[in-house]
Amino acid sequence: MRFIGNKENLVEKIYQILQSKNIIGNSFFDFFAGTSNVGQFFKKKDFQIFSSDLLYFSFVLQKAYIKNNEIPNFQKLLSNIEIKSNSLFANHLNLVVEYLNKIETKEGFISENYTPKGTEKLEIPRMYFSNENGNIIDAIRIQIEKWKDESLLTENEYYILLACLIETVPFYANISGVYAAFQKIWDARAVKKLVLRPIEIIKNDKLNQVFNQNSVELISEIQADILYLDPPYNQRQYAPNYHLLETIAKYDNPIIKGVSGMRNYENQKSHFCNTETGLTELYKIAKNANYKYRK
Ligand SMILES: C[S@@+](CC[C@H](N)C(=O)[O-])C[C@H]1O[C@@H](n2cnc3c(N)ncnc32)[C@H](O)[C@@H]1O
Repeated sequence: MRFIGNKENLVEKIYQILQSKNIIGNSFFDFFAGTSNVGQFFKKKDFQIFSSDLLYFSFVLQKAYIKNNEIPNFQKLLSNIEIKSNSLFANHLNLVVEYLNKIETKEGFISENYTPKGTEKLEIPRMYFSNENGNIIDAIRIQIEKWKDESLLTENEYYILLACLIETVPFYANISGVYAAFQKIWDARAVKKLVLRPIEIIKNDKLNQVFNQNSVELISEIQADILYLDPPYNQRQYAPNYHLLETIAKYDNPIIKGVSGMRNYENQKSHFCNTETGLTELYKIAKNANYKYRK
């Protein structure tokens, strides 16, 4: 996923550094989880993972990749809906994703607020998604919530489907990196028809725990061998830069403002985006954390 500070391409190197310094352990706290890629890597190395982030869409990814330890079989859902598959051996997640890729498109919060058609009355109509993709995102998001309300999904299955959508959307967003602004000319990627992609399911049979809160508040509750800190690097808050992923994950019809249709993020401001408060928070971690390794 395109995400500022994503360590997907660095995580192997991070692991090598830990090994070269003989830092070993069984549990790992990914304190600033973001995409959850670091947690995913260490989960595959059989660590028990703890992770947290202020962003709700990050929590969705953490639930699906880190907390979940089951291959989803969608038993209830599949006995309630008729799925025609071309592939005889498709796994159950692929079947459900295939089904979602064929449902009728719908108008909803995303198409009404982030596509040119939905916002044609605005002085600057928003061009985050093509009209077609806005309707596809709404249809898929509404369907997932409906299945949840009808008790057709387990909690894990619900978050796995949401994570599939969150991972897919950035491939079709008409942005240059973050969602604080849309591009005024259509990017080639944004005019392709959105096709939902299944996520990888990672199992390690450990009691992994994930949170959607200020990690500093968790410091005295969680004990892990390794504490991994990857805070924001500057004053740029994450919540406004990823507001659309947050709204798709929550789908809570927020009040939105401005040219970009930004949701309120007062409760998601990070103290680490300010040099003074960042230092105070770091001091709290250094003082209160009880970890085997802090590097
Ligand atoms: C540099 S990014 C982490 C990137 C992550 N390592 C990855 O590979 O995707 C920093 C993350 O810290 C989160 N964050 C900032 N302050 C936080 C806090 N006090 N508690 C929890 N998460 C926080 C941000 O929302 C953002 O996702």
